[in-house]
Amino acid sequence: MSTILEVRNLTKIYEGKVSYKALDGIHFSIEKGEFVGIMGPSGSGKTTLLNMVSTIDTPTAGEIIINGRNPHKLKKKDIALFRRRELGFVFQYFNLLDTLTVEENIILPLTLDKVKVKEMAERVVSVTRKLGIEGILKKRTYEISGGQMQRTAIARAIIHHPQLILADEPTGNLDSKSSKDVMETLQQLNKEENATMMMVTHDALAASYCDRVIFIKDGELYNEIYRGKNRQAFYQQIIDVLSVLGGDAHELSAARF
Ligand SMILES: Nc1ncnc2c1ncn2[C@@H]1O[C@H](COP(=O)(O)OP(=O)(O)O)[C@@H](O)[C@H]1O
Ligand SMILES: [Mg+2]
Repeated sequence: MSTILEVRNLTKIYEGKVSYKALDGIHFSIEKGEFVGIMGPSGSGKTTLLNMVSTIDTPTAGEIIINGRNPHKLKKKDIALFRRRELGFVFQYFNLLDTLTVEENIILPLTLDKVKVKEMAERVVSVTRKLGIEGILKKRTYEISGGQMQRTAIARAIIHHPQLILADEPTGNLDSKSSKDVMETLQQLNKEENATMMMVTHDALAASYCDRVIFIKDGELYNEIYRGKNRQAFYQQIIDVLSVLGGDAHELSAARF
């Protein structure tokens, strides 16, 4: 196995009138093909962690290594390129452009990288078939459902075969049926394409699709649990950790069911 993400002793202090330590010595790694969930109460540092890994923000101390390289040591323009080539993003609010069609949204990352039209077309066919959205390519984003929007966003996130897919609350704006569909899609991508994923979520059901869930509390690692064969049992284990973790982690995830 090879390591895709290594987070070494990551610390983030937000400087201000009062400085605030949002992450304190976080340490973990993600192997190729792993699907890892990150959970914790609000304010525990999940978004901060994701922003460091995605190179949107810089750590105060510690290191992020993605596929053997530390993107934070690259020059600014190389960071942008690194982010575009090595990472795929899936967000809670989908972040699709509503002036574009589904297809245009999906190929956006490829057009930025000047991929040939024929190759783009081939990749669109293969990725949209996989996600079951090949029938809506010419539609605009306001003509499709939330679940279809998130599938479109997932297609866009994976079309350039990123090393690491980062998802921030991908089911946060979906009803429970669409959430389940989206999680099954992500799980299928993970298994069939050996895609490596890190997903921040409040949703215990969504987290139960992961191979492993890392819990953080007050900016520190709190616990991590691995899924066995049974997703239902894993779901219960996640709920149990959340209930001792406290904060709003448990209430929010329970509220969905
Ligand atoms: N830009 C910022 N400046 C100052 N404090 C921040 C900033 N971003 C987040 N924080 C603080 O850092 C802590 C962790 O925030 P965040 O990573 O957003 O948590 P989570 O995503 O788990 O809810 C919170 O206490 C939050 O108020
Ligand atoms: Mg957050």
